[in-house]
Amino acid sequence: MNPIAEELNREMREASPTAYALLSRLGRELFFPKGILSQSAEAKTKAHRFNATIGTAIEKGEPMHLAVADQYFNLPPEEVYPYAPPAGRPGLRRAWKAKMEQENPSVKGKAISLPIVTSAITHGLSIAADLFLDPGDVILSPDKLWGNYRLTFETLRQAKISTFPLFNEQEGFNVEGFAAKLAEEAAQRSKLVVLLNFPNNPTGYTPTPEEGEKIVELVTERAKQGTHILTLCDDSYFGLFYEDSFKESLFGSFCDAHENILALKLDGATKEYFAWGFRTGFISFGTPSAKANQLYQGFEKKVMGCIRGNISNCNHAAQSVVERMFDQADFAANRAEKHEIMKARALKVKEVLNTAPYQEELVYYPFNSGYFMCLRFADLQVETLRLHLLEQYGVGTIAIGLSDLRIAFSCIELEDIPALFELILQGVRDLRAKN
Ligand SMILES: Cc1ncc(COP(=O)(O)O)c(C=O)c1O
Repeated sequence: MNPIAEELNREMREASPTAYALLSRLGRELFFPKGILSQSAEAKTKAHRFNATIGTAIEKGEPMHLAVADQYFNLPPEEVYPYAPPAGRPGLRRAWKAKMEQENPSVKGKAISLPIVTSAITHGLSIAADLFLDPGDVILSPDKLWGNYRLTFETLRQAKISTFPLFNEQEGFNVEGFAAKLAEEAAQRSKLVVLLNFPNNPTGYTPTPEEGEKIVELVTERAKQGTHILTLCDDSYFGLFYEDSFKESLFGSFCDAHENILALKLDGATKEYFAWGFRTGFISFGTPSAKANQLYQGFEKKVMGCIRGNISNCNHAAQSVVERMFDQADFAANRAEKHEIMKARALKVKEVLNTAPYQEELVYYPFNSGYFMCLRFADLQVETLRLHLLEQYGVGTIAIGLSDLRIAFSCIELEDIPALFELILQGVRDLRAKN
């Protein structure tokens, strides 16, 4: 093992034996090398004559660039063309932390880390997998999950996703099912990953405050019994809450819940700020350790090493735009306006589905947030329905498993929602008539 990694591990283990115990083999090996980037960073502060360190180009005191590219940017060249720092633009990291604290009062006053910029949430999940997952490790997740988790955690890292039914019969978060699966998996191992994605893809569900509290209580209870638990909050759709759900990230409660819990938050501008192609996301850490900052410094170095070795660094121009968005006087109003549009769509879907004839003919899972909702069919093959809707009516939906049809109401204008469901119902009736 590289001596720098050994030193990081020593410091991290001293700060939090749990965090160290949770690290994968690769997680232990990771470090940020004293290579070009750190020599260049050193030169930036001290090379007052000439800085000939890094593989970019300077012309007349600014980053060399092509005018044909620059005509599309309304940003200083320094914020577009040079490599972004490996952990992201410092100003953006501070702004994102302030945003997190403002939107999650439960985080206030707790020693959470400075968020590290990732190439959006997929990359954050991938970094988490590198840091913490060895083949055979178990990730506990609701059975309604984003399909790409399978690729990231199972195919690429050979970990195993163990699921419990997200909903109970009362159509709420299945606290009992979660408790049972948690107990079952924790009894078989000393390390467990709990992956929670709310607002949920594909159902659009976020737990109520009481359900949220119960989830945290159960995880804390297991941690007290000695299991090292990594909580991964995939907050991709954070903030898009439309009804009386919990309106904070569970990260805020997990981050100081117990010394045997290490909390991670994955979030970003992609879904929250409708900037999917920017690929700007964040990974943040939370621990109740008295030496939290020592731990976070270690994680920052390991994450930087992981980023450097995989993608070198994240898109700079997009980071600059997100950072500057926070400074705009009309940022909050602009975002609120889009939130209202999404909320109106979600509520319209409910209104349609709660009236005849939909009420009698279509069943849906509870939803109160995010981009999606799901219909549930006990009597039809959803893949057959999907193809029928596509070919017969020109309606695109997503078939999930055998019984669920996901509808991204986020992509449908308010006035088109009744027509969309009219066509879906027609397609359903066609297939039912054939059965
Ligand atoms: C639950 C969930 N997590 C993560 C992602 C990936 O988001 P990003 O585009 O920020 O990588 C998605 C995107 O569909 C998602 O639904």
